[in-house]
Amino acid sequence: MKHVLVVNFSQTGQLAEIAGQIVAPLRSAGHVVHVETLVPETPFPFPWPIIDFVDVFPECVQLDAPPLKPLQIAADSRFDLVILCYQVWYLAPALPMTAFLKSADGQRLIRDTPVVTVVACRNMWLSAQEAMKRLIAEAGGKLRDHIAFVDQGHPLATFITTPRWVLTGRRDRFLGMPPAGVSPAEIRAAGRFGRALGDALKADAERRDGPLLGGLRAVTVNPRLAISERAGRRAFGVWSRLIRLCGRRGQWRRRPALLVFAIYLIAMVLTVVPASLLIQWLFSPLLRPRLARLRAELERPSGSGEFNLHKYEP
Ligand SMILES: Cc1cc2nc3c(=O)[nH]c(=O)nc-3n(C[C@H](O)[C@H](O)[C@H](O)COP(=O)(O)O)c2cc1C
Repeated sequence: MKHVLVVNFSQTGQLAEIAGQIVAPLRSAGHVVHVETLVPETPFPFPWPIIDFVDVFPECVQLDAPPLKPLQIAADSRFDLVILCYQVWYLAPALPMTAFLKSADGQRLIRDTPVVTVVACRNMWLSAQEAMKRLIAEAGGKLRDHIAFVDQGHPLATFITTPRWVLTGRRDRFLGMPPAGVSPAEIRAAGRFGRALGDALKADAERRDGPLLGGLRAVTVNPRLAISERAGRRAFGVWSRLIRLCGRRGQWRRRPALLVFAIYLIAMVLTVVPASLLIQWLFSPLLRPRLARLRAELERPSGSGEFNLHKYEP
């Protein structure tokens, strides 16, 4: 019997549902699981008023998170495995997870402990995961696996369906586009990770190096999106620093800069993103070997292989 800590935060309940699918088989296998739901001292709104949605951008990118309410779990508790479930806000981890990883209690809980990260977002999580890797390493945790869930719609459709979901709370089918969010089938299939982790813990595999979730299609990277995301991440770094020069979160005096940023963001989504995807598609024969290398590199450590699926899919 092992002890597992699951750290979770979800506004719509989607990530909590995924975490629940992973936790259930771990408990059935006899492991003791504590689920810690992060609670920001000042709650983030949902659905998001547009001004709050844009105003949170600079602090997300600069990993400057407002504090959380005290955790339920004592910071000196020890776990055999920690599972960090987070979503992406502006190509960075959502602020509650950043706050956890930067807090003394969060750092104490993951120090010298194997960690699995689980992300559920629209489809751009690569930069956020780089930040997670850094924060986990700074806290002394040992990242063993990463699992990524992304929205079911086409990347271009989700530029409409995801903002509609977080700004209005409506996630249903819209103008012929699929509902926002991860598909229910993918959410149900998340149980395979719980079953595999349950077996790995029984075999003490978490004490050895290497991923615990290989061959389970934990991560599938679209390398074309990775190229757009890298460009976006660089621009976000500049914009977030500029806006913070104008004032702090919630202050009126930074609103003009936020408005300019919002116009820039919409213009980028309407022009640069489709153009970059089109150029990559036109040059795909030339780019193929480079994209294949990039994909393999970005899918580490858990990978998109499927060789273990038959063992853990019901
Ligand atoms: C402020 C904000 C910014 C977001 N930025 C991104 C992003 O950069 N990339 C992405 O893939 N998803 C992004 N999303 C979507 C979220 O990652 C997530 O899918 C959605 O908020 C639902 O999460 P939850 O129900 O688990 O809280 C953003 C959502 C919000 C609220």
